[in-house]
Formats: sequence, structure tokens, C-alpha cells
Amino acid sequence: MNYNIAVIPGDGIGPEITAEAVKVLDAVAAKYGHEFNYTEVLLGGASIDVHGIPLTDEAIETAKASDAILMGSIGGDAKTSPWYQLEPSKRPEAGLLKIRKALNLFANLRPAYLYSELKDACPIKGAEDFNMIIVRELTGGLYFGERKTEEVDGVMTAVDTLSYNENEIRRIAIKAFEIAMKRGKKVISVDKANVLDTSRLWRKVVEEVAEGYPEVTLEHMLVDNCAMQLVHNPAQFDVILTENMFGDILSDEASMCTGSIGMLSSASLNETKLGLYEPSHGSAPDIAGKGIANPLATILSAAMMLRYSLDLDEEADAIEAAVKKTIEAGYRTVDIAKEGEAWLGTKEIGDKIVEFI
Ligand code: IPM
Ligand code: MG
Repeated sequence: MNYNIAVIPGDGIGPEITAEAVKVLDAVAAKYGHEFNYTEVLLGGASIDVHGIPLTDEAIETAKASDAILMGSIGGDAKTSPWYQLEPSKRPEAGLLKIRKALNLFANLRPAYLYSELKDACPIKGAEDFNMIIVRELTGGLYFGERKTEEVDGVMTAVDTLSYNENEIRRIAIKAFEIAMKRGKKVISVDKANVLDTSRLWRKVVEEVAEGYPEVTLEHMLVDNCAMQLVHNPAQFDVILTENMFGDILSDEASMCTGSIGMLSSASLNETKLGLYEPSHGSAPDIAGKGIANPLATILSAAMMLRYSLDLDEEADAIEAAVKKTIEAGYRTVDIAKEGEAWLGTKEIGDKIVEFI
């Protein structure tokens, strides 16, 4: 079969890691007799440099017309990059928020699991195996509420608005319960219902949705407690369902529990088959261009893309198995290598994945 994939290399290490994911996809195409056609799309700083804005309407159209979108990472060093001299709505991150909203990518799935071979890299002493997925609402909440900075009675004042309606909560809750049905059948919904109205509505709607899934157990957890539980006992989690900002924070925390943020993939989905797939990590400008970035999160994101957008389950399994074999065979990038242990560069680890495929 033929598939059209929009590729957003982005900024920092983005181009290096997406190149490896494309290399792996080509190996999959060769093995299974598919053809992947790639169209490059500019987003973030890469788009600012060419068009003066982080995402053009043409770029959105190209993305919409594709079967799936594979992305590296966007953004630069806020202290030194000229992108951050621009007003906030023109900076790289604004482009990412714009594409999420334009494509209605409301469901952000971020799996986090511990490879037993990488236990030493896990900062939690004696951590049990864990395997969780964070289901983060991605197009509402504080990220998309009205904001302003102005002088009120001679005092500079900034306002960000946190709002959710029941429909936004319901559709992401349904996503989480559907996913839970295919996994451990346990949803922990994370909120701050002891303080926020949005969280109280969140609880109410999530409980209504839960009634449709009697096999799934539902627990509510306050976000501060969840932050603590993630490092105390990550094995208790199966599906974490939460709103945009809490999900942003908790997914970084969960990812570090796996030993390296360089291992975690993500999918951002809407109601159709189209999705955007990107590593959970950022653009790491400090190591960009050095050829040492870990491409595994992007390669695993490509596997999620095959599974969720293209319905190529066997091919997705092949990528995940190749990553597992690479780790089991002892190949590491520098972020997951033990002190003094030999490690491979970005391209070399990509080559290993291709070999195992
Ligand atoms: C993420 C990132 C983004 C977010 C930034 C780059 C806007 O941190 O995808 O988690 O906060 O959603
Ligand atoms: Mg984040």
C-alpha cells in the first residue's frame, strides 16, 4: 500500500532523530511491501526562519492532506535563540499549539514503561516493573484559554484562563476508558478537585463515562498526590487520565522514571485516523548537531503512527520488537548508557534497529 506521511523535522535534534525514524520506516516498507511518500513540513523555529511565523496555513493544509504526521521536536534555547525575541504568539511553541488545535488533536497518549535492561537508569531505587499510559487532554484548559498581561491600578497583572466544557472532558475520558479496556482496566483520573471548579466538573463527567465501562475500575487522585505517587510507586498506574497542563507536567515526570526521556513516544489523535506522532521530549538544543541524540522515542512514535493511523499492527510490532532487541543486545545511546559503558551515536543506533527489522 501507498501512504502519505507529513514529516516535521523541526528544530534542535529534531532533524537528526526524524531522519532515523524515516530510515526505520523505509526498512519496514521494504520488508512488508509498502510505499511511504514523505512530504516535509516546516514547524517551529525552522518555519520562523523561512516564513517569519512558526506555522503557515499551507503547512496545516499539507498536514491535513496526509495520512499521518511524524514530528521531531521544536524550539530552541530561550536565552540565546532569536526566536524568543519575538512576541509569544510567534515563537516556535505557538506553532505546535496551532497545529494541535487546527487538527483538533485532543487526545495525547504518552506511554511510559520500564525496560528491565534499563532498570539501572531508573532513578527510583528498587522500582518494580511498570507500564502506564498517560492520556492527556491536549486542546483545552490553560493552554488555550484567554490570556492577557496588562496594568491594573498601576500593577502589572497577567491572566491565563482555565476552562473546560463537559464535551471536551467526555471525549478524552472515553478515549482513556477505551484504552483501559485493552490494557489493565484501571483508570486513575488526576485533577485538583479540592480547589478547582474545572476539576469538579472533570470528576463528575469522568464518573458518568465510567458507568459505561463497568469492567474498568476508576480512581480519582489529586495532582499533587499523583506527582508523589509516580516516584513512590509507579507500578500502581495503568491509565492516567488528566487535563492538559497536569498531563504536560506528569508525563515529563513519568518519563524520567523510565530512566530517560529519550525513550518515550507519543501520539496526538483526533476523531479521525489522522494523528501527529512525536517523541515526548524536547529539541535539546545543547546537543543538536552532535549526532548523539537518542532517536528511539521518535522511532517508537513512528511505530505508534503505523498502529493508530495506518492500521499496520504487524509492522508496528516489528519496530517495537527491534527496539527491544537492540536494548537487550546491549546497544545504548549516551543518555541510557551506564557510566563508562560504550555507546552508539544517533545514526548507529538507527542502523541497529534497521538490522533487527
Ligand atoms: C509537550 C511540550 C509542549 C507542551 C510545549 C513545547 C508547548 O512540553 O509536548 O509536552 O507543553 O505541550
Ligand atoms: Mg511537555
